[in-house]
Amino acid sequence: MKQAKKLYLETFGCQMNVSDSEKIVTLMKGIGYAQTADASHADLVLLNTCSIRAKAEQKVYGHLGKFKAMKAGKPGLIIGVGGCVAQQEGEKLLKKAPFVNLVFGTHNLHLLQEMVSDAEGGKRSSETDFLDDEKRFDLFPLSEAEGGVTRFVTVMQGCDNFCAYCIVPHVRGREISRSAAKVVEEVTALAAAGVTEVTLLGQNVNSYGSRNPDEPDFPELLKLVAQIDGIERIRFTTSHPKDMSQRLIDCFAEIPKLAPHIHLPAQSGSDAVLERMNRGYSRAEYLAKVAALKAACPTIQFTGDIIVGFPGEDEAAFQDTLALMEEVEYADLFSFIYSARPGTKAADYADATAHAEKQGRLERLQALQKKATLARNESFVGSVQQVLIEGLSTSGESLFGRTGGNRGIIMDGDPSLAGRVLDVRITEGLQTILKGEILHD
Ligand code: 5AD
Ligand code: SF4
Repeated sequence: MKQAKKLYLETFGCQMNVSDSEKIVTLMKGIGYAQTADASHADLVLLNTCSIRAKAEQKVYGHLGKFKAMKAGKPGLIIGVGGCVAQQEGEKLLKKAPFVNLVFGTHNLHLLQEMVSDAEGGKRSSETDFLDDEKRFDLFPLSEAEGGVTRFVTVMQGCDNFCAYCIVPHVRGREISRSAAKVVEEVTALAAAGVTEVTLLGQNVNSYGSRNPDEPDFPELLKLVAQIDGIERIRFTTSHPKDMSQRLIDCFAEIPKLAPHIHLPAQSGSDAVLERMNRGYSRAEYLAKVAALKAACPTIQFTGDIIVGFPGEDEAAFQDTLALMEEVEYADLFSFIYSARPGTKAADYADATAHAEKQGRLERLQALQKKATLARNESFVGSVQQVLIEGLSTSGESLFGRTGGNRGIIMDGDPSLAGRVLDVRITEGLQTILKGEILHD
């Protein structure tokens, strides 16, 4: 019998790329490639790349070097680069890296089967045209309903906000929302396959449907998804503070299945910096939304993103960010040093702050958050949380699950409990994880 050809796929960057990679695996299966975790067995290597910061991009080039060396000993190896770096570089990448066979942009997954088949015949190709109609979603296969406990469902893609620092609108294109009917269809199929929790995904998820007044908007979509039997928990990410409407905030009080967690990136606590970032909200507006969310759902947990060292951020502006963090009381925070991205507005801003100073600010911010995260995790000790059991922990010795507030937790129990939402008493709060005991199952 003919052996299946082997695909080795590496994914960089955000959940959007992880979801696209699931689709890539399905597409490649369709032309005879089975996925392998061992690159040395591969006939086809695909890198699904990220360009959000210079470091993410450098990583891609580092990995490409590795596969170039591999190809030297295996000339038939097909190498493809997709995702956000591919979108930006296009043809240039084929020129820079002669060992690369194909380059596919973020809107071009529907061409991938043909491109790989062409590469098998020796053709090199690059496809990075943006598609700008609703066909974009119809061309994407649904994520395969192969079970699991928790799955991401893409409801919108792209971004129209053009924050001054951000490459996303440039590499992912304009916002587009899937029809609510399609989302409901996909979630229903996932629920039938045993999925308990869905996370509705989009770069700017809470502006879902805003371009089409005839379609449900995001609060309405949440209510439709909440009606699907078998789905016990709903999350969504990532939300833009300016699109966090009171109706959406009220959903946290009105929809019991909506998990009490929100990822709400502030980026900065300084009005002057927010203005230069083109974020579309002030510090006071952000904090007012946080207060409204806390009022609607007193147990809600916040996570966020902060950029440190944006051009023009001085020590006083940085202090405003630290003060905002203390007021919000984030459960966890992702923080980054600003990285100029070619083609964005801020890439032209004068930036007088030394890198060492920015590094120092990042370290101070992260030390503060580390303490806050530990204190919060410790504060859960003794409480009873509703935990969705996801399966075995990475060590294989305990069960892993998540609280409604999205804290990871490990506990003893039988793996057959995967998919159940159970009451768990928290016994320990560590820096990155909680420990607990299942009260009854
Ligand atoms: N430099 C640093 N961080 C960035 N992010 C986005 N663009 C940049 C950049 N140019 C961060 C933001 C965003 C997260 C996904 O990455 O905080 O919310
Ligand atoms: Fe990275 Fe942004 Fe592309 Fe996601 S959309 S892979 S974060 S550049």
